Amino acid sequence: MRRPIINEDILYYLRHEQKENEGFLKELEKFADEENIPIIPSETVSYFRFFLQTMQPKKILEIGTAIGFSALLMAESAPCSKITTIDRNPEMIALAQKNFREYDQRRQITLLEGDAADLLNQLDETYDFVFMDSAKAKYIVFLPQVLKHLEVGGVIFIDDIFQGGDLVKTIEKVHRNQRAIYRGLHRLLDATLKNPGLTASLLPLGDGLLVIRKNNSEITLTD
Ligand SMILES: C[S@@+](CC[C@H](N)C(=O)[O-])C[C@H]1O[C@@H](n2cnc3c(N)ncnc32)[C@H](O)[C@@H]1O
Repeated sequence: MRRPIINEDILYYLRHEQKENEGFLKELEKFADEENIPIIPSETVSYFRFFLQTMQPKKILEIGTAIGFSALLMAESAPCSKITTIDRNPEMIALAQKNFREYDQRRQITLLEGDAADLLNQLDETYDFVFMDSAKAKYIVFLPQVLKHLEVGGVIFIDDIFQGGDLVKTIEKVHRNQRAIYRGLHRLLDATLKNPGLTASLLPLGDGLLVIRKNNSEITLTD
């Protein structure tokens, strides 16, 4: 994380005093770091592991595969789950495919290639856990489809929602080329945090994690 949103000493403690990745996850984490590929940071990994080991979802959808790090973490944490993960970047797809061939030993993961905007419309399954980790301005655009494919009682995690702290500034103080993301994230939070059909919580992990539970079959998103 380039711009920590919490006290740096606490961040150091979170990253070094909790269980670290081992084996292939440690290797993939090192590769991502060396190649400057964004993956979930270790404090978020700890929470994923805790939550998924507890929830044991059966069907997981991920938007934003990159090299497959978080998909493999989810597969390890929920060994009976089937995971569908979406990415549109050919370079990332090639790396993820190689990593899944090598490390997805129970063959839990299916990679769908293409833009989530198109693929979400084509899915005919429901899921009990969804991880959204793609272009931040699009979270609000994808949310109605994601909610449609989420079972009642299902959970969505959405990563990187504090925009390195910009989110809590006024828009004039945000760099012009970051304003579309800023607006998109504000729309997302306005639509979810106090929505009567959802239970939502903001966690200061990494650049912020929004966690949402779907409580009713019909969710109205105001905009
Ligand atoms: C932050 S990375 C994902 C990291 C991964 N979840 C992890 O933690 O290991 C974001 C990925 O989302 C993909 N992405 C962004 N917008 C997308 C879209 N509209 N459709 C599909 N993939 C998208 C990018 O190609 C990129 O690989």
